[in-house]
Amino acid sequence: MTAVSSLKGSDQGRSGSNIFVLTGAGVSAESGLGTFRDRDGVWTKYDLNDVATPQGFARDPDRVRAFYNARRANLAGAAPNAAHFALARLQREMSARGGSVMICTQNVDGLHEQGGAVEVVHMHGQLLVTRCQACQATWPDRQAMRADTVCGACGRTATARPHVVWFGETPLFMERIVDAVEAADLFVAIGTSGSVYPAAGFVAQARDLGIRTCEINLQPSDNARAFDERLYGPASEVVPQWVETVLAV
Ligand code: APR
Repeated sequence: MTAVSSLKGSDQGRSGSNIFVLTGAGVSAESGLGTFRDRDGVWTKYDLNDVATPQGFARDPDRVRAFYNARRANLAGAAPNAAHFALARLQREMSARGGSVMICTQNVDGLHEQGGAVEVVHMHGQLLVTRCQACQATWPDRQAMRADTVCGACGRTATARPHVVWFGETPLFMERIVDAVEAADLFVAIGTSGSVYPAAGFVAQARDLGIRTCEINLQPSDNARAFDERLYGPASEVVPQWVETVLAV
């Protein structure tokens, strides 16, 4: 993972039998989780080199664990919003029609699943999963990670880290994701700034293959010009409207 920085009519329903949906922090913003790069975003308050890199963890694992423990506590009070529910509905209804909707998220929250989505691909990992830095065992975990957390697989302590992809690490499930983009006839990016690769490059991959592309965001993202269609407004409003449009065809 590497960093760089009026609703109108839609004709997408005609083409959307295999839809690839890429989501980012903007889809969960109205659930109270905040984003990374907006005003008041996480990276305006923390240096990502300290808390979101392997080097930061090596320097100060307690600081990194405290950062993610706070995010776990924050997530405990969050609930899916209308955008999550609408995407889950889209997935169900397209599946019933013989199509498919892959929800590929950069978000480490589980709000898509809480909203009813199935088969969510978490390319940047999951906040409520702990990983042993030594043996790479993972386990579901809502508790605070501590220096004395014991890995159930190898028995070591001082190795607990979140199962989250940091800058400088390789996102998960890339082969599956690339295949799904290639198989799509509609690519939609929702609530992502388009500033973190490889996710920010998926739209170019889709365009090169002649796949129709759409961006839904509060404002134009860094690569807004790469999209055929752009729908701007809060995800909780625009996503349900867009889903209605797709399903109406
Ligand atoms: N509705 C729709 N979009 C919104 C909303 C909203 N209510 N609120 C904010 N946005 C948009 C912003 O305009 C911005 O384009 O969400 C985007 C959030 O961008 P980022 O904060 O950069 O989040 P994201 O793109 O998910 O970041 C990618 O960077 O720090 C890493 O690993 C982290 O997965 C994350 C990755």
